[in-house]
Amino acid sequence: MAQGPKKRGIVIFGPPGAGKGTQARRLVEDFGFEYIATGDILREAVAKRTPLGIKASEHMNRGELVTDEVMIPIVEERLKAGDGGSGFILDGFPRTVRQATMLEEAARRNGIEIDLAIYLKTSKDVIVQRLSGRRICPKCGTIFHIVNIPPKVAGVCNKCGGSLIQREDDREEAILTRLAEYARQTAEVIDFYRNKGVLVEVNGDVPVEVSYPSIVKTIEGGRGL
Ligand code: AP5
Repeated sequence: MAQGPKKRGIVIFGPPGAGKGTQARRLVEDFGFEYIATGDILREAVAKRTPLGIKASEHMNRGELVTDEVMIPIVEERLKAGDGGSGFILDGFPRTVRQATMLEEAARRNGIEIDLAIYLKTSKDVIVQRLSGRRICPKCGTIFHIVNIPPKVAGVCNKCGGSLIQREDDREEAILTRLAEYARQTAEVIDFYRNKGVLVEVNGDVPVEVSYPSIVKTIEGGRGL
């Protein structure tokens, strides 16, 4: 059991395309949090064709969740190995109540307290518009949108000059499966954190320039959005 003051753990969640990755990456830059994004971990494993990547890729391409048995040890490992300087931010995990329960236990074992769950509440038409226009940099992970958050030069990453790509699971069929999986397995995680008393709901439909400052305020302690 870890000794000393607890490190902070923040969960950011919401439906696919709500803007979890966009917001979390800004928080990491501004607050120095350690970033654990399970989708990024899996995509890297798929690109490198590791045993994990081979196991996960079919589920991901179809828009289905990867099993808890695969996901849970990955996250615990990252919590254990991480230094978590000013805290951890988890993006895309937990996605089931079982993962949420496990996260509480793993956090406790590693001297971390999950003290905030930011729920980006986002409507379906917004989600579809965002996912169909998303482009990501495979080199540095920066996220763009061809209309909402366009790169300075079309198809080129502002940060590292990498060539932007569309994610495999941003096809219409996979988007619909991801939305269904979210409703079936992830939506109940909202109640898990509401019951724990750490849930803060943020309007995910509005531009980042509007939602990000309210998230920052919440993190700095000013709740009641
Ligand atoms: P993951 O990568 O976590 O995908 P997701 O949850 O579907 O979320 P997205 O990454 O699609 O969206 P986001 O909310 O991060 O939005 P973004 O910031 O990119 O997971 C992928 C897959 O991995 C899963 O389907 C599953 O198979 C597997 N997996 C991962 N974790 C797992 C787990 N714990 N258990 C089991 N399986 C797991 O923004 C979207 C777009 O909108 C971008 O183009 C962005 O530029 C734009 N945008 C963002 N915010 C705004 C805004 N406020 N206004 C206008 N545009 C915006």
